[in-house]
Amino acid sequence: MKILVTGGLGFIGSHTVVELLNNNYEVIIVDNLYNSQIDVLDKIKQITGKDVKFYKEDVCDKQALEKIFKENEIDSVIHFAGYKAVGESCQKPLMYYRNNLMSTINLLEVMNENNVKSFIFSSSATIYGDPGTPKYVEKMGRGKTSNPYGTTKAMIEEILEDLYKSDNTWKISILRYFNPTGAHSSGLIGESPNGIPNNLMPYILKVASGELEVLNIFGNDYPTPDGTGIRDYIHVVDVAKGHVSALNKIVNSNSGVYVYNLGSGKGVSVLELVNTFERVNNVKVNYRIADRRPGDLAEYYADPTKALNELGWKAEKTVEDICRDSWNFMKNNKN
Ligand code: UFG
Repeated sequence: MKILVTGGLGFIGSHTVVELLNNNYEVIIVDNLYNSQIDVLDKIKQITGKDVKFYKEDVCDKQALEKIFKENEIDSVIHFAGYKAVGESCQKPLMYYRNNLMSTINLLEVMNENNVKSFIFSSSATIYGDPGTPKYVEKMGRGKTSNPYGTTKAMIEEILEDLYKSDNTWKISILRYFNPTGAHSSGLIGESPNGIPNNLMPYILKVASGELEVLNIFGNDYPTPDGTGIRDYIHVVDVAKGHVSALNKIVNSNSGVYVYNLGSGKGVSVLELVNTFERVNNVKVNYRIADRRPGDLAEYYADPTKALNELGWKAEKTVEDICRDSWNFMKNNKN
């Protein structure tokens, strides 16, 4: 089976491509290298010993997509490509709406024209908004999102639901990620954001390696056991395997829209993550307590029961694995 992976050289995309190849799927990547590096393609080949067809194209370019579909007999699409920085989305909302919505609509239209109707979408726990309880379950539905990035995810979920209502031959899987982090155990692929990172683990890595001086912990006065924010950190390889499970499921199921949380089900505080990182890697992370970051919630984590029951998927890796693999990747890729 041939799977088109958009954004396949990015953080979650590249790990998913590895798992797809390990499961004998044929993969075609389309990526414009906006937030990814071309050398990831070689790293994927090194890890798997397999070849991948690559197109350096933008998913917003419909003609380019049409050409890709003409040249390949695609069976399914996994759609990662998109802008993902929460803060930037507040400063440049139109750029986020244009890019994330246009690329997805283009892709779905070209799929329709080519009668390819099996689609997996990268969504986010952010679509739950602030439901007033920390444990997020799929049946709670979407809440009010707090930034344009999150709103693009919620809007695309709605687009997919409307598409299915209009044509119930589609098979769609919506995967809501919690906090994907970690890296491949080979140390060859991982997360390498440009500039100063926004997310916690990339920031910890730059402080531990001496590139940045100190980690700001955003608030220690939340109503949590140690006062710092609690999230569900999930190893990116587990997230990648979740996509393979979702793909196996839609290939073998009736048409429909299937929604799953991809989280570990376990909440971990900022301080716990920092302490675990220091202990497992025997390295110091300088930190100071700073003000809360606007828009952050105190605590949330996944209820991953539905993915276990219907996909047979659950997170296998621990927070220790996340810390070890992240640091291993950082040490291997200092330059
Ligand atoms: N944090 C710090 N210092 C930092 C960075 C983060 O203390 O320098 C804290 C945050 O306050 C929060 C936790 O670490 O408590 C995690 O923050 P991240 O920025 O790593 O992740 P978020 O939970 O804010 O957001 C992530 C993704 C979003 C996605 C959301 C879904 O980045 O894309 O999860 O729930 F929308």
